[in-house]
Amino acid sequence: MYKQDNPIKNSHLVAAKLIDWYLRNHRDLPWRQSRDPYRIWLSEIILQQTRVQQGLPYYQRFIEAYPSVQALAAAPEQEVLRLWQGLGYYRRARNLHACARQVVEQHSGIFPQSYEVLQKLPGIGKYTAAAIASFAFQKAVPVVDGNVYRVLARLYGETTDIASPGAFKVFFNIGEQLIDRQQPDTFNQAIMEFGALHCTPLKPLCLYCPLQQQCWAFAHSQQHVLPVKSKKAAVRFRYFHYLVIVSADGKMLMRARPAGDIWQGLYDFYLLESALTLHEEPEALEEDPLLQELLRLQPMYEASPAYSHQLTHQRLHVRFFLFKLAEKQLRKLVFPPEFVWFSPSEAEQIPKPVLIQNYLKDVRF
Ligand code: ADE
Ligand code: SF4
Repeated sequence: MYKQDNPIKNSHLVAAKLIDWYLRNHRDLPWRQSRDPYRIWLSEIILQQTRVQQGLPYYQRFIEAYPSVQALAAAPEQEVLRLWQGLGYYRRARNLHACARQVVEQHSGIFPQSYEVLQKLPGIGKYTAAAIASFAFQKAVPVVDGNVYRVLARLYGETTDIASPGAFKVFFNIGEQLIDRQQPDTFNQAIMEFGALHCTPLKPLCLYCPLQQQCWAFAHSQQHVLPVKSKKAAVRFRYFHYLVIVSADGKMLMRARPAGDIWQGLYDFYLLESALTLHEEPEALEEDPLLQELLRLQPMYEASPAYSHQLTHQRLHVRFFLFKLAEKQLRKLVFPPEFVWFSPSEAEQIPKPVLIQNYLKDVRF
């Protein structure tokens, strides 16, 4: 829709302007004064978990407690977790510790320099590997994080949905063409800092932006639509209540589901649905005439435990209510015409949703 034919024209000019902006505007942060891969790695892991201001004291405490990767590797895990306390997501802290150990045990305590090899270490993904490879070892690998997505999408009118699986590659490619190969470390810091401080999500400072003349979004007034990010479809919760009607000789009443959903043609039972759980909405089922009749005839029904079933955008909570009725009682009931009686062995032959199969495996009539 928006994309230019040659998205990265002026790459030298754009890179130079980003670096120039960085040199005059960047925050003075402790990990930026170091090329020690240990310090860079540690700072990046902490900053994945929190903002710079909240992360700073954690970084200082870790460096004080463990000045080297060997010191961190030798620490008891409980102590590492305690230092991490307050950052949340303790899996990151465990990975941090495991990574330190692996660097010591498998790499003689020296962080690997290669973008690919770095990614084999626990907790190091593409972003962190690019950060370490460029900041510590001056490798020309572009970092791609949320700030970078935003800056590149706006500069080049790149409309790939950043939530889509192919987005990383698209933006990584642009980054590769743009990165300054003489100073990839400064370039990477620059584009991230520019996104964090200047080309911000809601109020980008376009009116005094050095990249105005190069910026596609500025020229087309599209800053606020870029980057494109689709929302995940919300998961819908549904509550199913199946009435399992069984005759004295063990036949059950089933029907093929009509067209219109993923279970089309599969057999299930008489279904009532409510928007909330019965606990939250006990009156939900009261109006169903068949259920009323059943409860009058057989108040001693058996309720199954709740079954939970995950579909792509739905989560089903399902209970089965078993009504076992004598011939005489059944004759008083009127069922919708699509319902048919099946013996257990016949029921085994017909196609059914997995959920129904699971229930039939569990239940004894
Ligand atoms: N966020 C993630 N990495 C960062 C870095 N190196 N400097 C500032 N903020 C960051
Ligand atoms: Fe970002 Fe605005 Fe500058 Fe474009 S002009 S790079 S949208 S701050």
